[in-house]
Amino acid sequence: MNIDFKETDSEKYVSLVKGIIAGTGKLAYVTTLGCQQNEADSEKVRFMAVEMGYTLTDIPENADLIVVNTCAIREHAEMKALSLIGRYKALKKEKPELVIAVLGCMAAEAHVAKTIKQTFRQVSFTLEPSMIWKFPKLIYNALNHGEREFVFGVDDGNIVEGIDKIRESDKCAWVSVMHGCNNFCSYCIVPYVRGRERSRDSAEIIAECRDLINRGYKEITLLGQNVNSYRSDMTFAELISKIAEIDGDFILRFMTSHPKDVSDELVKAMKIYKDKIAPSFHLPMQSGSDRILKAMNRTYDTAKYLKTVEKLRAAVPGIAITTDIIVGFPGETPEDFEMTLEMMRTVRFDMIYAFIYSKREGTRAATFDCQIPEEEKSRRIGILLDMQKDISLEKNLPYVGRQERVFVDSKSKRGGKNEYSGRTASNKVVHFHSERDVVGEFVNVKILSAGTVILDAEII
Ligand code: 5AD
Ligand code: SF4
Repeated sequence: MNIDFKETDSEKYVSLVKGIIAGTGKLAYVTTLGCQQNEADSEKVRFMAVEMGYTLTDIPENADLIVVNTCAIREHAEMKALSLIGRYKALKKEKPELVIAVLGCMAAEAHVAKTIKQTFRQVSFTLEPSMIWKFPKLIYNALNHGEREFVFGVDDGNIVEGIDKIRESDKCAWVSVMHGCNNFCSYCIVPYVRGRERSRDSAEIIAECRDLINRGYKEITLLGQNVNSYRSDMTFAELISKIAEIDGDFILRFMTSHPKDVSDELVKAMKIYKDKIAPSFHLPMQSGSDRILKAMNRTYDTAKYLKTVEKLRAAVPGIAITTDIIVGFPGETPEDFEMTLEMMRTVRFDMIYAFIYSKREGTRAATFDCQIPEEEKSRRIGILLDMQKDISLEKNLPYVGRQERVFVDSKSKRGGKNEYSGRTASNKVVHFHSERDVVGEFVNVKILSAGTVILDAEII
């Protein structure tokens, strides 16, 4: 069910907190680990914090409220979050009234709640992602020295609409269209921490996009754990078509797609609206071995995956295809790994995100025999990344000499003060020089040279 934020009791707590902290100059620091979905959630948290009377700060040492939005996808991400939270212990000692909140996927895990309860006593409360609308109430309780709270396992499957956002950028926007996941890939913690799939109303999404475009946003990225499994009164293909039809100069992206839900209708929509919908597709393959894909519960095989790639390439010539690959899944033999390399040789991805399998407590794969030793996993990922470097370069070289329309994200971190970084419609990173500040604009460039990740260009 979709509920309006204004119909929840949160509005009341926003006012109550405001009453306590108005005029006191209290500062809030929100830090985000993990994926874009978390970034999007943090934008809502920032909005709620400001509504309650906090001013945002980038300096945790100055803050009266610290929010850590955590990621649970791999063990490394969890260690990083815990080490960060650990560092705030000293701040809490200095400033006992400091409120420390732990949000995000880790906050939905029972064993994390237990660890935080026992070991990280500086934390005031934890709150699972599907319940972030309860944030004002928890802040109110914390300010009133209530008991420490651990809110998890109470996801009711609803979507709370109408929480505004303080967006990171005034040109690029994340728009969540669906939440949760029903797929239970055997390695993945997401279905356990973000609950079942639920889609936002199409009218709400379209209105949000129209408003962003009218306000001058140039890039909209629709988000969902399986964005193309979106379903409401319309399919995902219909949704992106409707958004693409909005007047304005913008580019539409979406991620992450599940291969099982790349419908012919979606491919067709990308073809019809190729001027608005970016010619790029992130299509996580995970493994090139059918046996491993089965053990992963991915519900497609390599033949189906290849067919999808073919369809996308036929419909949208020049489309950039990127993927996620996990190495060292339990029981992955050298032959299985070789099949993944073979799929990479066949598909020739523009870019890959490669991950070492990380055992997640509570998932099915954590109980599988034949866990692969860490050194072997590292060896395999090294081979895979080396191979991809050559393929990425081969994919980038044809860009040399071409004119490309590039959306400029920022000043380039590399190079001097007039160096800029942008992305082509196919999402390739382009660096170039400009005497004029062009951040947030589309510019035409000519590509001069190509590396494995970056294209160097000159502005036309
Ligand atoms: N170990 C390693 N990688 C994982 N991913 C998800 N769960 C795990 C895990 N337990 C990867 C998948 C997914 C990406 C977001 O993270 O490749 O597509
Ligand atoms: Fe995890 Fe699979 Fe769901 Fe993606 S589709 S979030 S990998 S369970």
